[in-house]
Amino acid sequence: MTKTLKVGIIGAGFAAAFHLRSYRQVQGVPLEVAALVDINKTRAEDLARRYAVPKVYDDYRFILDDKTIEVVDIVVPNDLHLPMILRAAETDKSIICEKPLTGYFGQGEPDQKVGATPKKEMLKKVREDLKKVEEVMAAHPVKFCYAENWVHAPAIKKALELMEKCFISGAILEMRGEESHSGSHSEFAKWWRHAGGGAMARLGAHPVAAGLFLKQFEGEKKSGRPILAREVWADGTDLTKTPAFASTKGSPLVTGWGDVETWSQLTITFTDGTKGTFFAADDLLGGMESNMDIRLSNARLKFDLCPVRVCQFYTVDPTPVKDVYFNEKQETKAGLSFPNPNEEWLLGYPQEIQDFMEAIAYDRQPLTGLDLARQVVEVLYAGYVSMEEGRTISIQ
Ligand SMILES: NC(=O)c1ccc[n+]([C@@H]2O[C@H](COP(=O)([O-])OP(=O)(O)OC[C@H]3O[C@@H](n4cnc5c(N)ncnc54)[C@H](O)[C@@H]3O)[C@@H](O)[C@H]2O)c1
Repeated sequence: MTKTLKVGIIGAGFAAAFHLRSYRQVQGVPLEVAALVDINKTRAEDLARRYAVPKVYDDYRFILDDKTIEVVDIVVPNDLHLPMILRAAETDKSIICEKPLTGYFGQGEPDQKVGATPKKEMLKKVREDLKKVEEVMAAHPVKFCYAENWVHAPAIKKALELMEKCFISGAILEMRGEESHSGSHSEFAKWWRHAGGGAMARLGAHPVAAGLFLKQFEGEKKSGRPILAREVWADGTDLTKTPAFASTKGSPLVTGWGDVETWSQLTITFTDGTKGTFFAADDLLGGMESNMDIRLSNARLKFDLCPVRVCQFYTVDPTPVKDVYFNEKQETKAGLSFPNPNEEWLLGYPQEIQDFMEAIAYDRQPLTGLDLARQVVEVLYAGYVSMEEGRTISIQ
C-alpha cells in the first residue's frame, strides 16, 4: 500500500484536536489530513494551522465534493452525525463517526421540549434511523468506523487477551462499568435537542459499548456467535434538581441543566442470562472516572482508564504547576494527585485511529464498526424508555 489516504475532518472542536494528534501517530499507512471544516471558520483555521492541514472550509459539502478525499471523520455535535453519515456514504467515502452514532433530537417540538417527548416515540424514531443507516451502508459498501475509544484502550486490549484464555472454562457473569465527572461545560450538553440525552447518552455510551463488545467477543470466541443484549432496565434523574442539592452551597458541580438526566444507571441482561450494570453521572468531583470491574466465573478483571496512578504528586501550593495538565476535570492540584503522563494513549485514541486507517487501507473490518454503534444507540434508548416507564425493555 503506497497510496496516501486522504482524510477530511468535519468539526474543529475538542474531539477534532485529539483526532488530529492521533493521525500524527499512525504508522504503516501513508495518510494526509487534507481538509478541516467547521461552521466557525476561524476555529477551523486556528486548528488547521496548528496541525498543518492544507485546506479549510466552512461547509462540509466541500469535503464531500473533493474526489481525492476518501475518508470523512465526523466530530460534530451528535444531532449532525446522521445526516453527515448518510451524505458521506452516498459519496462513497469511508466514515469515522464519534460516539454516539445518533439519537433523538426532536421532530418539530420546541427545542426545550424535546426531552419531554415520550421515550417510546424516541426509541421508535432512532430504530427507524438506524435502519436507514444500515440500508445506506449496505448500498454503499464503504468502511464505517465507530470511534469508541474504550475498546481500543490498552487496558481493554489486555483484558481481551486475558479473557480469551479464561473463556476456555469460564464465562463473564457480571460487568460493572462507569464513566462520570463533574459535568460538561458545553451548554449544548444540557439540552436533549442537541445532546440526544443526558449523562447516559453522553458518558454511558462508553462503558455500555465496552460491555456489549466484551460479551460479543466472548460469544464469538466460544461458539462463533455473539452474545447480545436481551433486555434493559434503567433509572435516571437530575440530581442538581433535588431538594438535597438545593440545600447546599458552593458546589463545583456543573448546574443549569435543561431537560436531561445527570445521574443514570442502566442494567443489561444478555442472551446468556448474565448482567452488565453501567453508571454515568455528572455528580463526581476529583476528575473523570472511567472504569470497569468484570467478574468471570473463574477470574476477575478490573481496569481504570481514568484516573491512572502511575505518577503521584503532592503539593500544598499548586501555583507553580498551574499550567501543567494533570487530568480531565480535576478541580484542584493541591494535595495528593495523579497527573496522567499520556491520557490520550491510555484512553485509546491513537490506537483507534491506527485501527481505522489500517481497516480502510487494507480493506478489513475495523474493531469497532456499525454493528456496535447501532447496538449502543438501541440499548441507550431502550434505557430511556425504561427510566420513564419503570419497566424492563426488550432489545430487538
Ligand atoms: N470519544 C470521546 O471520548 C469523545 C470526547 C469528546 C467528544 N466526543 C464526541 O465528539 C463529537 C464532537 O464533540 P466535541 O466535544 O468536539 O464538540 P465541540 O463543541 O468542541 O466541537 C464541535 C465542533 O463542530 C462544529 N460544527 C457544528 N456544526 C457544524 C457543521 N454543520 N459543520 C461543520 N462543523 C460544525 C462546531 O462549530 C464545533 O467547533 C460529539 O459527537 C461528541 O460526543 C467524543
